[in-house]
Amino acid sequence: MESIQVRDKTFEISISAREIDAAVERIAKQINKDFAEKNPLFLVVLNGAFMFASDLVKKITIPCEISFVKLSSYVGTQTTNTVRELIGLDEVLHDRSVVIIEDIIDTGITMGVATDKLKKLEAKEVKIATLLFKPLAFQRDYKIDYIGIEITNDFIVGYGLDYDGNGRNYPEIYKIVE
Ligand code: IMP
Ligand code: MG
Repeated sequence: MESIQVRDKTFEISISAREIDAAVERIAKQINKDFAEKNPLFLVVLNGAFMFASDLVKKITIPCEISFVKLSSYVGTQTTNTVRELIGLDEVLHDRSVVIIEDIIDTGITMGVATDKLKKLEAKEVKIATLLFKPLAFQRDYKIDYIGIEITNDFIVGYGLDYDGNGRNYPEIYKIVE
């Protein structure tokens, strides 16, 4: 589909399913190599990352565990500076290699809070994998270890990403038409 309507806004196609798949494949290959002997714990940040995580872990061929946390900072199309608690983490992280799986890093505030919390739990290492990254919006200075696709600051939906809860279901990524 070239354009879609999500609630009161129109979005146009921005990244095809094929481009997404190529990016996911690249990240998976790298992780398979980097974590071969480490039995990593993938921590998927819900809700947005569910689709990316699902496609990514199907391409992971090394021993691993997968778990889910929830953490969110968005209301509508604007980021808010208050990040809610990390909920649902029931794994012992002590001495483990953790890979956080996110759909998108925008200002970087959400992921900054997540990694700070995880480091306090004494993980051996905490790496970050994000499908999408908005470099022009990024306000932090930590390293992002795996980035699928860099994008401009336009608001996007699809492939797990939502506009007020809607639009997560599309296999492609759409950007807002202003
Ligand atoms: P950050 O804290 O500004 O980096 O925001 C990260 C979170 O905001 C992500 O986990 C997404 O859930 C959400 N987000 C950021 N940009 C977009 C977007 O363009 N569309 C939908 N959600 C977004
Ligand atoms: Mg998210």
